[in-house]
Amino acid sequence: MRLLKSILVTGGAGFIGVNFIRHLFEKAGFDGTLINLDILTYAGNPASLADIQEKYSDRYNFVRGDIRDRKTVDRIFNEFNIDTVVHFAAESHVDRSILGPEAFITTNVMGTFTLLEASRTFWNGREGVLFHHVSTDEVYGSLGDEGCFTEASPYDPRSPYSASKAGSDHLVQAYHHTYGLPVTLSNCSNNYGPYQFPEKLIPLMIMNMLEGKPLPVYGDGKNIRDWLYVEDHAAAVWNIISSAPAGESFNVGGENEWENITLLERLIEIVAARSGKDPAAIRETITFVKDRPGHDRRYAIDCGKIKKELGWRQSVSFEEGLARTVDWYLDNPGWTESIRSGEYQDWIARNYGGR
Ligand code: NAD
Ligand code: DAU
Repeated sequence: MRLLKSILVTGGAGFIGVNFIRHLFEKAGFDGTLINLDILTYAGNPASLADIQEKYSDRYNFVRGDIRDRKTVDRIFNEFNIDTVVHFAAESHVDRSILGPEAFITTNVMGTFTLLEASRTFWNGREGVLFHHVSTDEVYGSLGDEGCFTEASPYDPRSPYSASKAGSDHLVQAYHHTYGLPVTLSNCSNNYGPYQFPEKLIPLMIMNMLEGKPLPVYGDGKNIRDWLYVEDHAAAVWNIISSAPAGESFNVGGENEWENITLLERLIEIVAARSGKDPAAIRETITFVKDRPGHDRRYAIDCGKIKKELGWRQSVSFEEGLARTVDWYLDNPGWTESIRSGEYQDWIARNYGGR
């Protein structure tokens, strides 16, 4: 029987981590203690969980710290008697990995290694514990016009980001095979929804539309991604940690493939309808720009395994998810303003000390 009494979530102030923590407390019926360890890079915003902090102050703990720092990680394991790790913390943006790969290697590879070592040492063969590693479909490389990634697809990462995630996946698998550490992995496609830093395609385009800025489309705009509403990803991770056998990997996806340019056209319709802007005027701001180096052409996920073995399903259609996402950004300009501006960094310095 899995314990799930004291969960260490890493990177819980980032996009998916915030949605996962919300899901645990507000939807999944989680009744244990949760420690959110996050260093608060540009992408992490603890204010996204201010209401959770207040409402569940007896069971929710935020620690500002680095997953690469073994002392901090050990202290958390000891103080909170951690039985489950859900590891989201990472440098996550492909374009940034092309401009500056180093942080991707230290956080994604060395940070994962540090957490694995702490888990192995602290648990030392204990039963009922689990290390869940959150990864990406990008480890499988790029597809042609046909086919989908399955859990058996060979690894073929092509950006520094995906190579660093592939390295971390291999380490997690190795700790299971070599030391018997109970692990599970999930490899998910593109997430979208509330609290996503506005550098990723969907929130960047929404913000640029609202602010009348150009909409930069890389290359010919025909690269294909599979899109999943973030709450469905959160539910998939909860299903895995609650009931999947150790040693298993699960692909998670939306079964919802879109060419970037077609997605953008649909998004323009939705933003226009909900903001009162003229769709034709927005469309004129589409700007084809130089392609991303090594830009993967197509991702597509076969998520039959998690559906069959754990009964997980997507619950939010793309229409509904996009509408909810646009509404969230329209309703929360303060969040975007704060995470993009110095005000947010000042807030971090005031609350968690300088960097
Ligand atoms: P994000 O960039 O929004 O958030 C990452 C979080 O990790 C931030 O809060 C950041 O402060 C924290 N962090 C970074 N380095 C750290 C360190 N050294 N120590 C402690 N905390 C650190 O990322 P996201 O989109 O929420 O992605 C979360 C995870 O899911 C990542 O592992 C990513 O590879 C994976 N993933 C993301 C997607 C997606 O579409 N966004 C899809 C599949 C998998
Ligand atoms: O597939 C899962 C991955 O999805 C995650 O592992 C990554 O953490 C996450 O960032 C995401 O990676 P992508 O590179 O697919 O996401 P991004 O939002 O950066 O880009 C989506 C597509 O849109 C991609 O084909 C590049 C294109 N794009 C992106 C931006 C930011 C543009 O055309 N213009 C842009 O300005």
